[in-house]
Amino acid sequence: MALIIRVGPAREQWWLEHMRSLLPDIDCRLWNDPGDVSEIDIAVVWKPPAGGLKRFPNLRAIVSIGAGIDHVLADPDLPKNVPIIRTTGGDLKIRMREYVVLHVLRLHRRLPEIESAQRRQEWLQIVSPPAYQRRIGLMGLGDLGADCGRALAGLGFDVAGWSRRPKVIEGIKSFVGQDGLGAFLERTEILVCLLPLTPLTEGILNADLFARLPRGASIINAARGGHLVDNHLLSALDAGQIASATLDVFQIEPLPENHPFWAHPRVLVTPHVASLIDPVTGGQAIAANVRRFLAGEPVPDLVDLTQGY
Ligand code: NAP
Ligand code: GLV
Repeated sequence: MALIIRVGPAREQWWLEHMRSLLPDIDCRLWNDPGDVSEIDIAVVWKPPAGGLKRFPNLRAIVSIGAGIDHVLADPDLPKNVPIIRTTGGDLKIRMREYVVLHVLRLHRRLPEIESAQRRQEWLQIVSPPAYQRRIGLMGLGDLGADCGRALAGLGFDVAGWSRRPKVIEGIKSFVGQDGLGAFLERTEILVCLLPLTPLTEGILNADLFARLPRGASIINAARGGHLVDNHLLSALDAGQIASATLDVFQIEPLPENHPFWAHPRVLVTPHVASLIDPVTGGQAIAANVRRFLAGEPVPDLVDLTQGY
């Protein structure tokens, strides 16, 4: 039984040792030193290069080191009919919850204006409306979106969510599909994107969507850079339709040094850190899924490839 690991070069050796300690019965190997490729049963990957996975003719499962699987599906030569398992878990949720609550509160309490007033030594007293008057809209009410929604509702915000199927979650108004999108956007002052990147959601944060938000709304994109049409956002910021954007994910990562987002006064750039996988607990979640899969037990993180996320 053999497993191949592909992570960024920075912690490759660390991950190898970690997975070996968690899965002592499995021969864990590194992507660039696979040995006999026909022996590889499981590939544990983040952003595998195109064509890389088809090297393994007997692959039984692909494990995404992360909740999103778009980086795996992006491979045009992805081996067909190999199950994909994503990585979820408590830590990933906690981190995303912290990120979303942090940035919603930052915008709700207009912290950027207070910080810039400090630089001018200006005593700027802003009275923000109470949370129950602030309407938050979460695009995506899955593992992460629903959890963030509950946390925001717990702080008293007026929270709505948009998903493919209806949801019954205490404190969250549910809007569904294309039919529900207009009403969802009309009521949303702070929009948080936590959708998976699929052909249906690619480029969804575009000029048309911005125009359907109330003037002066803000957006937080913690999902994928491919959701956002960058130049549409820049135009909407210039026009005042969108007041500000908090962006954790980008079309190209790291964000190229000449990209206008870096220096834009109303864009906050964070370097894909909203919920980075914790190698210790993330590795444990991956090992648990690998064990379940190999034992033929149900794997809750197994992706339904017919829906694509
Ligand atoms: P998930 O559990 O699969 O939930 C996805 C949600 O999006 C579901 O509510 C789903 O609706 C909804 N959805 C999917 N396609 C839709 C469509 N066409 N129209 C309307 N709603 C749609 O995913 P998750 O675990 O919450 O993660 C979401 C994404 O966050 C990941 O795919 C990843 O890209 C991103 N992420 C980013 C970071 C970071 O550090 N920035 C970390 C982790 C994850 P249904 O509920 O009706 O199926
Ligand atoms: C991170 O972006 C993830 O998909 O877990």
